[in-house]
Amino acid sequence: MTKTVSFTQMKDGTPADFQLVSDNDKETAKELPDRIIEHLRLLADDNGAYQISRLDHVLQSATRCETDGADDDWIIACLCHDMGDILAPYSHAEVAAEIIKPFVREEVFWVVKHHGFFQMHYNTNMSEEKRRSRERFQNSPYYQSAVDFCEKWDQCSFDPDYPTKPLEHFEPVIKRVFSRKPHWRSSM
Ligand SMILES: [Fe+2]
Ligand SMILES: [Fe+2]
Repeated sequence: MTKTVSFTQMKDGTPADFQLVSDNDKETAKELPDRIIEHLRLLADDNGAYQISRLDHVLQSATRCETDGADDDWIIACLCHDMGDILAPYSHAEVAAEIIKPFVREEVFWVVKHHGFFQMHYNTNMSEEKRRSRERFQNSPYYQSAVDFCEKWDQCSFDPDYPTKPLEHFEPVIKRVFSRKPHWRSSM
């Protein structure tokens, strides 16, 4: 049986208790790459009325990204940018960004976090004001990266005829990136 802490409320915990929790968390974190893969598979169940599933959309964006010679951080951004779609439909970009935050550089985190505003540019059913939402970020050093991410990899990846690579192809990069030593940022 797994060893457990002595307390039933945290204020009674000893340093040894919290060490036990911390050690356990580290072990659980080793399973993160598999959990990411598992969650991505859930995106196959929904197509959001597009011609391909949400899983095929992110795989297609990652395939285009890889074909363009982008690095691991960007491939992970493509694979994970819509992870929140089925769990947080009103804040999916922020959820995805927080998941990748400890493992990618700031630029990539920022682009994933804000990509929803940049994608509005392509939505012809929105008001002109909403379609220009991205302009409020023009002073960000990552503005052009977000424009490029959406133009080259996100908005174009809804094509059922594109030779999209399967999830298995991307498992090594998922394992590589989500096994990195995490870095933490208080705010960005
Ligand atoms: Fe998105
Ligand atoms: Fe997307």
